[in-house]
Amino acid sequence: MTATRYVREGTLAVLEIDNPPVNALSGLVISGLIEGFDKFERDEDAAALVLRCRGRTFVAGGDIAMFDDPAFSPAPFNDLLNRISASPRRVVAELFGTVLGGGLELALACHFRIACENTRFALPEIRLGLIPGSHGTQRLPRLVGLAEAGRMISTGEMIDTGRALEIGLIDLIADSADAVAIATLSPRPVAAQAEGAPEVLRNLADAAQLRIHEPAYQAIAETLAAAAQLPFEKAAEVEADWFRRLLPSAPARAQRYLFFAERRSAEVPGLSRGAATRAVERVGVLGAGMMGVGIALSFALAGLPVTLSEVEQSRIDAALERIEGTLAGMVRRGRLSEHAAQACRNRISGAVGIKALSQADLVIEAVFEDMAIKLDVARELGRTCKPGAIIATNTSTLDVDVIAAATGRPQDVVGTHFFSPAHVMRLLEVVRGRETAADVLSTVLGIARRIGKTVAVSGVCYGFIGNRMAEVYMRESEAMQLEGASPERIDGVIEDPAWLGMAMGPSRMLDMAGVDVGARTVIEWIASGEGPQEPAYRALCRRMFETGSHGQKAGYGYYRYEGRKALSNPAHAALAAELAELHGVVHRNDLTEREIFERLLYPMVNEAAHILAEGIAARGSDIDVVWTAGYGFPRWRGGPLFMADEIGLPEIVARLDHYAARDGDPHGYWQVSPLLRSLAAQGGRISSWTGKGERE
Ligand code: COA
Repeated sequence: MTATRYVREGTLAVLEIDNPPVNALSGLVISGLIEGFDKFERDEDAAALVLRCRGRTFVAGGDIAMFDDPAFSPAPFNDLLNRISASPRRVVAELFGTVLGGGLELALACHFRIACENTRFALPEIRLGLIPGSHGTQRLPRLVGLAEAGRMISTGEMIDTGRALEIGLIDLIADSADAVAIATLSPRPVAAQAEGAPEVLRNLADAAQLRIHEPAYQAIAETLAAAAQLPFEKAAEVEADWFRRLLPSAPARAQRYLFFAERRSAEVPGLSRGAATRAVERVGVLGAGMMGVGIALSFALAGLPVTLSEVEQSRIDAALERIEGTLAGMVRRGRLSEHAAQACRNRISGAVGIKALSQADLVIEAVFEDMAIKLDVARELGRTCKPGAIIATNTSTLDVDVIAAATGRPQDVVGTHFFSPAHVMRLLEVVRGRETAADVLSTVLGIARRIGKTVAVSGVCYGFIGNRMAEVYMRESEAMQLEGASPERIDGVIEDPAWLGMAMGPSRMLDMAGVDVGARTVIEWIASGEGPQEPAYRALCRRMFETGSHGQKAGYGYYRYEGRKALSNPAHAALAAELAELHGVVHRNDLTEREIFERLLYPMVNEAAHILAEGIAARGSDIDVVWTAGYGFPRWRGGPLFMADEIGLPEIVARLDHYAARDGDPHGYWQVSPLLRSLAAQGGRISSWTGKGERE
């Protein structure tokens, strides 16, 4: 088997890479490139060498799977890059698709880079907790300067062909390199040391200080400083040293794990990849509130025509206005061209009444989260939607099977839990009902990918994967508030990267999402008899619901707000004290940071184990995808389950047992899941646990 081919095309030699799907630099590709380059060196009458790829893209990076191999070293590839760059005959990279990581580093070692329109370029290693390890930190700043290189390496963001030409990353926009094109190019001067303003390096060093738990940022600061101060060979050693240290680091392992987790989460055990799907050409969205608008935008931005339906024209007008504002904002911030915004606008039409959705292939109802309303709507959609149309219910906690039954065609129904704002948040939790047809699920997973979402599939239960785990997290946060800890103290611990580093702690998160929204579902859950019946359960948020302390939008919640600024709220402290007294909760002065951290994270891990054991999620890694893509769990921690594995499951089980023994466990909150206990006993990892029936 070969992944490369050396051929002559007239005076040119061509070294072609063929390693589907994305021409990643596997061991085979690297050895093939080395052999091919040997041939070129012997093939003395070849005027120049062209590096070309077959398939859908130029090399999209090093093979990430290889990075877990302790024997992996970039040295052989790096030696090849040095030989390419020192070659007396010209070597040209012919670029298209996504030129990423090691692919861009390969291109940087060449004398010329020719790219066709619509090529995109990035050094995304930072998203894997790494730095480029094949001279990217050295060749890029020497070619385009410190500022551009610093930006690309520290954000990992892609740039397009136009920008690449502007900054001097590529030499020519053309579909392919021919002998004439190559002959017309004159070599671009590459600085012996990278140039740029000193504040670029200072800013990188400052950024690294702010993220001391992600050492890759320190590595960027130091390798770019080396690029500016040292000769290439010496500076390349600085890069090599950092790369070697980063590769096995916890943040890098966590992000490699997530890379593959996010791709696997779209695969459903028992559903083959090429499974039949239903055609979706027109989308309908019912309900034009915040959520409906975000959902409509998600589809329209991805090129699908959307009908947005409401009960009256005034609501449609308001929604269209909101869409207008969002698009204008995106254009202003340079996220969208005016042309693309106009095209998006043209794809969204408003209409009064459900009938307007009768021709849609996929209808997503995003009406108010209230079972009675959802059921009315479901009945009507069941009658109105054309045969074979998919009916998706956007809910964060309600029973999808009950809603599906009300349509009279449960096989066509699926749950879609979008996160707000839906056109921004990456996660889509797809809820598979008891009777959801396989082709409905496949279609929705395919369309989710089309609109750029990261998906995880959940079975039906209260809160699905994400909110079910968030419930125990909120429960402990509120319980500790009754015991005397302030929301800012609790949030502070969990937001502190030394403990965890959540984007927002539980109280800040609920204040932003709306205490009323959260409380309403808790109240319904308790009323249904399924939720905990103890009077103190989430007593805080239930009372806040009654008194109108609905969070940021109300100016009061767990915090007091001045604009968006969260300040300590004395009224909340008084309420916590009052409820503590009412429910006989003893005030504690000994709540440590460790206890706050453990009581927030460990019950979530335990709940996740229940979720896995019940088959609600198919794999541990799906749960980490939910939390990192939808709930602000830091990617460099890998997710709650990867983090639990890093801490050690025996420690987690021991601490859950400790809290059960210390406080008594009248409500069973600390009862350890048998799955978690057995994984801990056997030395298993919960993040790599897969459910029954899956073929690995
Ligand atoms: N190493 C190993 N496998 C890779 C890979 C890499 N660098 N890049 C992509 N793949 C695999 C994916 O795992 C997926 O495999 P699967 O089909 O078995 O699930 C397949 O290639 C297609 O990737 P996917 O992300 O599903 O396709 P896409 O068209 O949406 O995106 C890329 C393609 C290249 C833009 C995207 O995969 C990507 O960003 N890859 C990472 C690039 C990177 O970080 N490179 C630097 C490494 S140091």
